[in-house]
Amino acid sequence: MTDGSRLLSLLTAPRSVSLVINAGIMLPVLFGALLGAGPAAATSLFADECPADAPLSCHANGDYKDTCCFNSPGGQLLLTQFWDTDPSTGPADSWTIHGLWPDNCDGSYEQFCAPQREVSNITEILTQSAPCTLKYMAKYWKDYHGDDEDFWEHEFNKHGTCISTLEPDCYADFEGRRDVVDFFKRAVMLFKTLPSYNWLAEAGILPSLTATYTLAQIQEALTAQHGHNVIINCNNNNEINELWYHYNVKGSIQEGDFIPAEPVGSPSTCKATGIKYLPKYTTGPPSTTTTTTSVPIPTGSPSQLSGKGRFYVSTDADSSGGFLISSGTWYRGGGTPATYTATPNADGETFTLSTSKGPCAVQADVLNCAASVSASDASFFGWDGSYLTYDDSNTFYATSLPSGTTQGVVYTVPKAVEIRASWIQS
Ligand SMILES: *[C@@H]1O[C@H](CO)[C@@H](O)[C@H](O)[C@H]1NC(C)=O
Repeated sequence: MTDGSRLLSLLTAPRSVSLVINAGIMLPVLFGALLGAGPAAATSLFADECPADAPLSCHANGDYKDTCCFNSPGGQLLLTQFWDTDPSTGPADSWTIHGLWPDNCDGSYEQFCAPQREVSNITEILTQSAPCTLKYMAKYWKDYHGDDEDFWEHEFNKHGTCISTLEPDCYADFEGRRDVVDFFKRAVMLFKTLPSYNWLAEAGILPSLTATYTLAQIQEALTAQHGHNVIINCNNNNEINELWYHYNVKGSIQEGDFIPAEPVGSPSTCKATGIKYLPKYTTGPPSTTTTTTSVPIPTGSPSQLSGKGRFYVSTDADSSGGFLISSGTWYRGGGTPATYTATPNADGETFTLSTSKGPCAVQADVLNCAASVSASDASFFGWDGSYLTYDDSNTFYATSLPSGTTQGVVYTVPKAVEIRASWIQS
């Protein structure tokens, strides 16, 4: 919302007295705006001044008609997330946003509700009105075809146009596609409260080429956090690829409260057992012959890494972070990450690393795995619960983002690009 309308809504809110004083110099302008809006209409004109007693969506008795403050008929709001592995999208250690959907209270849904409100310039709109939201979306709201703008348009045009509280008439001063801006802002805000990767990891459910999980195990981990069941979807190979978090909303989706709700509509599609949670950015079919059991490394608390695994690189600069290859360099050109072997040290905290190239050491501030590194010179590394550490820091550096077949030298001293390495146990 614009500052002007925020003040307008504060001024007309019950608790406005002290805020009016703070608003001070704005008062004449605000009164002008109020007068311009005319006498209060029977139904609210402003989604951002919904009454505190607006009913919870899907929980009204039918008398409540103000669809600017009460999402209807799409009162079951879903924040849906993807886990894309073929091809992979987004950070290796995060789910990505699929959308924010207004389902009806029985699980059916409307779509493409307002052709005249469809947009084809979301990037432009957000560049102008919500650049931080746009930056976040570029990392976490990914199209698996690589055309994010097209995917965002699809989501707004199909679902966003069906959210009643976003209708232009609900705004006092509708301009500059506030409906679009508010839709994406709210979806991003909600997504940030739903860190599925971490929630699953805390329950020992980590991406693996070999481990399998049960639906009950995944459901339990997510329900404990969300407070209600979550819809857990798999592809035809029983590989988990989508989560649907359900909500009812009190007030508008722009400003109201999202209250977690029990799902309605279609049930989870994953089978009860044998669910795979594949790592991102691995290529080729998962091995079916290995008998190694995967031991997930719980994230959230520091521990010693042990055994074989891969390091995936994440960076704020770009969403396809790539991974470390066998010489200890950073590679974003596709293919398969190197297998690293972590060997715990007797101190109970640190470990050494080696690859097919040889032991790994930080030499002259550069990570290097090579036969020329003698085992006794191998550096001690740590794990902070989420990322590889060296010398108590989980931040490594590169001079730039490597592209194509370029290998990026990994530094332990500050350079232009900050990177972190997450571990996927083999
Ligand atoms: C987006 O497109 C619409 C319709 O073509 C146009 O009126 C509007 O100015 C554009 N918005 C931005 C921010 O470019």
